[in-house]
Amino acid sequence: MAQVTKRIGLSLGADLCWPICYEEIVKALALDLPVGKDRVRFETARVSIDPFSLRDPCRYDLILDRVTHWYSTSREYIKKAVLMDDLYVLNNPFSIQAMEKHSTYAAMMRLGFPIPETWMIPPKDYDWTEDLKTTLRSYAHFFDLGEIGSRIGYPLFMKPYDGGAWVGVSRIEDEGALRAAYENSGKRVMHLQKAVHPFDLFVRCIGVGPQTRIIKYEASAPLHARYTTEKGFVDAEEARLLEDMTLTINTFFGWDFNSCEALRKDGTFYPIDFANACPDSQVTSLHFHFPWLVKAKVRWSIFAAATGRRMRKTMDWDPYIAIADERGMPFRERLAAYAKIARKRLDEAAFERFCAKHLAHLDEVAWTFFGTPRAKEAVRLKVAALFPGHEVEEFTERFWAAIQRWREEEGRPS
Ligand SMILES: Nc1ncnc2c1ncn2[C@@H]1O[C@H](COP(=O)(O)OP(=O)(O)OP(=O)(O)O)[C@@H](O)[C@H]1O
Ligand SMILES: [Mg+2]
Repeated sequence: MAQVTKRIGLSLGADLCWPICYEEIVKALALDLPVGKDRVRFETARVSIDPFSLRDPCRYDLILDRVTHWYSTSREYIKKAVLMDDLYVLNNPFSIQAMEKHSTYAAMMRLGFPIPETWMIPPKDYDWTEDLKTTLRSYAHFFDLGEIGSRIGYPLFMKPYDGGAWVGVSRIEDEGALRAAYENSGKRVMHLQKAVHPFDLFVRCIGVGPQTRIIKYEASAPLHARYTTEKGFVDAEEARLLEDMTLTINTFFGWDFNSCEALRKDGTFYPIDFANACPDSQVTSLHFHFPWLVKAKVRWSIFAAATGRRMRKTMDWDPYIAIADERGMPFRERLAAYAKIARKRLDEAAFERFCAKHLAHLDEVAWTFFGTPRAKEAVRLKVAALFPGHEVEEFTERFWAAIQRWREEEGRPS
């Protein structure tokens, strides 16, 4: 029996809180697992930014990556390691780079999801390039923005086709506002999307591997209060629908970790933003839900690293498309069929067996850890990075109290 150490790398940006909790919990789990013919232990390390030869062997078995969408050096290190060293990474960087919001809307429309009517319009302004004038003169046509607006209907949203973090998003009530927003949109390529209006529920469904958590979201609340702690806002059928949607999206794009935003109107959930392959992980937004996320990341990454799970490098969309193309199937049935593929791709059954066998003590370890000064320090670090000095104490206590409420609700695991 060989002793093997699996190395889990954390490739981080402004992530201060969850990595500390993740590292401490993995350490406290003290895993030494019999896997096949080996005994497997785990080590965590922060992925640093260094020059590298493309032929250097990768030092990690699995990386949890949080900067792919903006930091190219580590992204390219990870890409070379996937190609050359069979690294497993959350999330697939090739897919993140290629799939902006726009492609995710298109793909899920193809699968029959009720995505609101969405148009793309050419940008108002351009960076000058040698060929710009000729290209625009030859191919750009005048178009009637007002007519597009009335075809979509008001209210509608103008938002960047590749957006995130609410940058450049505006809600538009009429043609005058649409024209004004377009005048001010600069070089960004924009979508116009019919508003789901009025909606009676806004949820975010987070997926980590096959694990999901549905949270009621208050988009108009201040940042620290958008994830609510309400319960019972969806019934079992709705919960299954949201989970099925999320896992379908995530496996379609090869994202193990993503969140899907959906709005409910007249009993239908309309997904409006699900290209979030670097979803919020900070205690300052997740508060009460933060321990769930840390535990979910621990479970999935340990499972993937321990079992030598192979990363799906190519997307393989055909099985989903085949279902989409079947005639006369109601959407809910189709979605169930997509989700079956999703759960299979995520090895849900094997994952659950693995957790029951090897990670049964995680509940106890995490419950204990989230009561320690080290956990509180992790919270304070993130708060200090985001809040003005005079609010650090107040908000540290507020997020800490939310975590303690989570502990109370969980109850000490036996
Ligand atoms: N079609 C829509 N119907 C109703 N509300 C919408 C729609 N599209 C966007 N919104 C509102 O605008 C907000 C921002 O839009 P969206 O999520 O697409 O952009 P984002 O830049 O990804 O923002 P974030 O980072 O907050 O998710 C949503 O949280 C929602 O409140
Ligand atoms: Mg959003």
